[in-house]
Amino acid sequence: MPVITTIDDLKRIYRRRVPKMFYDYCESGSWTEQTFRENTSDFDQIRLRQRVAVDMDGRTTASQMIGDDVAMPVALAPVGMTGMQHADGEILACRAAQKFGVPYTLSTMSICSIEDVAENVEKPFWFQLYAIKDEDYLRRVIERAKAAKCSALVITLDLQILGQRHKDLKNGLSAPPKMTVPTMLNLATKWGWGLEMLQTKRRFFGNIVGHAKGVSDPSSLMSWTAENFDPTLNWDKIAKIKEMWGGKVILKGVLDVEDARMAAKVGADAIVVSNHGGRQLDGALSSIRMLRPIVDEVGDQVEIHLDSGIRSGQDVLKAVAMGAKGVWIGRAYIYGLGAMGEKGVTRALEVIHKELDVSMALCGRKDANTLDREVLLVPEGFEGRWQA
Ligand code: GLV
Repeated sequence: MPVITTIDDLKRIYRRRVPKMFYDYCESGSWTEQTFRENTSDFDQIRLRQRVAVDMDGRTTASQMIGDDVAMPVALAPVGMTGMQHADGEILACRAAQKFGVPYTLSTMSICSIEDVAENVEKPFWFQLYAIKDEDYLRRVIERAKAAKCSALVITLDLQILGQRHKDLKNGLSAPPKMTVPTMLNLATKWGWGLEMLQTKRRFFGNIVGHAKGVSDPSSLMSWTAENFDPTLNWDKIAKIKEMWGGKVILKGVLDVEDARMAAKVGADAIVVSNHGGRQLDGALSSIRMLRPIVDEVGDQVEIHLDSGIRSGQDVLKAVAMGAKGVWIGRAYIYGLGAMGEKGVTRALEVIHKELDVSMALCGRKDANTLDREVLLVPEGFEGRWQA
């Protein structure tokens, strides 16, 4: 058993274990991948202020996100096709999150359906919704999430059309994989993944197959999004979806101060500063660069979270100290899931938790709720002077 001490350790095992098609899906950004790269490299520019002779006994990372108690200010982000990274992936990731005490968000584009996850986990989870053209489907999926007792609706705003990730096209990404010669050759080297997949019946988009009408290829994320996502989504429609849901709403994918103002006006319970992990608008600024301006503008009106680029507890600390009430992780837990199933997600959370706890202590803080900009060393002009 290898000694796993970092998220990168999990990534190495993940890469060996999971078919190339799904590794590439997780590990890609759109077009040139500039934004994908800068989401992480911009975190590296921020440094931490080492403090000494401060009592560090009795530390806690416990906090709250949208009023829910969390063991640390980290939520599992919605990730499409999680059930292709590991058999029954959504159920396993949700279980690990709930045992650890952090929220799990199920994607509309999941393999395990809303009902299936609800039946196989202990507590409510958050459900992520894409605005879909078919009003009947939209209404029904919202009703299904309510019936499954999902405790918040996460509306994704930055994916009305799919950003192009070249490898997905080259690999012929689909769920389940289509048996082309290159795919078969690759699958032949991934027998551990394959044996587990053969033992589950969850191999299709569970919220779509049998629920949505007129999908030309229900195995393709690309054709489903192109045919069904609503390109006319606007703030009125967002308000309407919020009303249909009637519970807590999180708006995910805000990266601009003006949009943040609109999101606060709609009355969201939280907004997530995100560029979809660099998978949508290539050339957009990283989430961490946009965090401070958004916090300064609307931080007193709405809870603000950050997603995109978190790979360590130090990153969590930096985002929280800059004003995020919590952060979301996607790839960091998918590496764990693909590497070792539920145990791997737990390990990813443990790694991040330990890094957060120790870094917090060495910055002279005992409570994640007291983290503020005083613990950071941010290079002058970090946010830059970008002009519209
Ligand atoms: C879907 O959310 C994707 O980024 O592929």
